[in-house]
Amino acid sequence: MKILVTGGLGFIGSHTAVELQNQGFDVVIIDDLSNSSIEVLEGISRITGKTPAFEKLDLREKSAVQDFFKRHADISGVIHFAASKAVGESVENPLLYYENNIGSLVYLLQELEKKNEANFIFSSSCTVYGQAGKMPITEDAPIQEAVSPYGNTKQIGEEIIKDVVKVSNINAVLLRYFNPIGAHPSAEIGELPIGVPQNLVPFITQTGIGLREELSVFGDDYPTPDGTCIRDYIHVVDLAKAHVVALQRLLQKKNTEKAEVFNVGTGKGSSVLEVIKAFEKVSGQKLPYKIVGRRSGDITVAYANTNKANAVLNWKAQSTLEEALTSAWKWEQKIRKVLAK
Ligand code: WQD
Repeated sequence: MKILVTGGLGFIGSHTAVELQNQGFDVVIIDDLSNSSIEVLEGISRITGKTPAFEKLDLREKSAVQDFFKRHADISGVIHFAASKAVGESVENPLLYYENNIGSLVYLLQELEKKNEANFIFSSSCTVYGQAGKMPITEDAPIQEAVSPYGNTKQIGEEIIKDVVKVSNINAVLLRYFNPIGAHPSAEIGELPIGVPQNLVPFITQTGIGLREELSVFGDDYPTPDGTCIRDYIHVVDLAKAHVVALQRLLQKKNTEKAEVFNVGTGKGSSVLEVIKAFEKVSGQKLPYKIVGRRSGDITVAYANTNKANAVLNWKAQSTLEEALTSAWKWEQKIRKVLAK
């Protein structure tokens, strides 16, 4: 079976392509290479022994999307990762985010609604909950007003899909990610942030390797046990596997609704200081950091209630925070050697 993975050379997309191939699927990757590199394709094939088909394509170009689907009429499912995802950048340049994240989604869905059957997995995010009132967060927690255009594109994307499945043959699963971290244990693929990392774990590993002076901890005056924000850090391979089981659920027509929603996290919250301590343990070295002011837009706490994914998808995150950080550290050490050449 042929599966389209948009944004498949990105962080989560590439790990999902590996898990799809491991399950015997043929993978076609579309990526515009705006936030990824073609070397990732070789990384995938070094892991699985199979090179996914690849097409460089900008999903904002409607005619290019139409042409792609004319040439690939035998696609059984689509896992849609391709999107701009920098929260801060989305505040500065909202139209870039609405054009890319919403425009691409609309053009993809317009092609899928022409098919007799279409299975669609959407990359959503726990950001749709904002600061949820109750922990752990369940899928029926209220959707709160987005604090960034990026978060808004995820909310709007979910609404578009829920409207479209009602009047088409599309079946969808919306996966609300918590905080993906780590890398494939082979260290052949991993996170490749361009420029200064916005996210905590790549900044930690780059500090660990000496690329960054020290980590700035954005505030220790939150109403949490140690004053720093709490998040649900999930190993990217666990997250990738959740996409495969969600897709298989649709392919086997086991879905009970036309658009099903699942939180994908570990169910465990970790504070920034706890992540630092865990990294120091797995790396065997002290991490230089300083406490600075809060980062605007940050919420205090978010971690998932994963009962629904555990029970309905029969999926559960396997890796601990330390295992995920170990894989992130191994990747950082490997990639610095490669980039230093
Ligand atoms: C985690 C914690 C920071 C960097 C983001 C997106 C979200 C999703 C996951 C796409 C926070 C603190 C961070 C640093 C720090 N992405 N931090 N110093 O903000 O929870 O979620 O990535 O879907 O949409 O918003 O992740 O890794 O940026 O921050 O102290 O240098 O680490 O304040 O408490 P976040 P993050």
